Amino acid sequence: GSGSSSTGSGKIERFSTSGFILAAIGSSVGLGNMWKFPYITGKYGGAAFFLMFIICLIVVGLPILLAEMAIGRSGRGNAAASLFNITGKKHWKWIGTVPVVTSFLIMCYYGVVAGWTLHYTVLSFSGSLSDVNTDFTAAFTNFAGGYAPLFWQAVVMLITGIVIAKGISGGIEKYNKILIPGFLVILLILMFRSLTLPGAGAGVEFFLAPDFSKLSRASILTALGHAFFSLSLGMGCMLTYGSYVRKEQSLGKAALAIGAGDLFYALLAGLIIFPTVFSYGLKPDQGVGLAFMALPAAFAQMPLGAFFGGLFFLLLAIAAITSCFSILEVPVAYAMGQWNWSRKKAAILVCVFSFILGVPAALSVGGVLSFISLDGKSIFDLFDFVTSYILMPVGGFIVTIFTGYAWKRAGEEAGISGFWYDTWMFILRYVAPILIILIFLYSVGIIQP
Ligand code: PFF
Repeated sequence: GSGSSSTGSGKIERFSTSGFILAAIGSSVGLGNMWKFPYITGKYGGAAFFLMFIICLIVVGLPILLAEMAIGRSGRGNAAASLFNITGKKHWKWIGTVPVVTSFLIMCYYGVVAGWTLHYTVLSFSGSLSDVNTDFTAAFTNFAGGYAPLFWQAVVMLITGIVIAKGISGGIEKYNKILIPGFLVILLILMFRSLTLPGAGAGVEFFLAPDFSKLSRASILTALGHAFFSLSLGMGCMLTYGSYVRKEQSLGKAALAIGAGDLFYALLAGLIIFPTVFSYGLKPDQGVGLAFMALPAAFAQMPLGAFFGGLFFLLLAIAAITSCFSILEVPVAYAMGQWNWSRKKAAILVCVFSFILGVPAALSVGGVLSFISLDGKSIFDLFDFVTSYILMPVGGFIVTIFTGYAWKRAGEEAGISGFWYDTWMFILRYVAPILIILIFLYSVGIIQP
């Protein structure tokens, strides 16, 4: 087997210290923060849900994030190779392929939504969303149900593939360094705009004043699942990025910076979306359509709405694409390490295949394939459900068990000892696995909310 060839062909690439933090924030801040987080917050209880999310992020998310990065840096390989390199045991190599498959499946539908954001960026800036009399729900449904999303999905795959093919420092690191700061500027402009809208206070209150009677078991489990998704955990992403981190870099500090970055962007996203939605008398609980149906209606009524709307969708697109880099890097690193493919070949083939597999997902959101449904879920919903609520928890479980039980020297690599090490181990051995099993049983419907 080629399990020990951890770096594939070519020279060993590394992130710079700040490059790694930016790339990891680029990975974690994505559609999860800007699109999914606001609509699940709207649905599962507003501020009380947000608080649950913060708790899950800190208590379960950060320890697993640290574990993933440590595994990658110690194993110096893709997800499967790292688990194998550390233990020398073949079965860990097989177990380590699960996250690789997960990342590939996520790419298939994440690329579709990323494509929608590009389409809406162009529509907004060109002024085609400015007519207040438009039925934005119908407009979105028509678009998503047609064939245009395939074009935009292809654009996303093309951009992602080109950046990944350029490698770590010349590709992923370089583009994150441009995109993430630019992203922050746009975010602040938009937040200022939304907080100064008449009636914005009701939105802020909905988002930040907790009402615990709105919390249900479903909201707690959703918060935990979302903490995983939001930090890009359980699918080998932070592990693979971790394999490019220099030995001198502190992983503990990196975990804190990434966690804080992710939370900060979620907070800003909420402070843009809820005040805007409330200010225009719209509802925050319309699910996946929140960003694409409710917000365009708000922007259409706003002075300079085409500009602000365009900025908003550009923001979503950047967030989505920097996450796509990290998702795609997982299978690309795997193909390079395990099959000895060149980076270029791996990038091209992974892009092409995830595009092809994403086509049915794209065509199932009101399109020709929407008649296919399993248990009430379209193909698109199935991709999301199977990855976010089944495969990612399984991946997270693998990481906790590996670090908590199979790897004796985890503390050294993570650079922590004493109280923090004991706490970390306690979470990885007991708290996180039990919570993950709970999310899992809930997702597959064995326990009911
Ligand atoms: N964390 C990203 C988001 O919040 O949108 C999504 C994601 C990226 C999930 C990378 C998983 C991943 F590996």
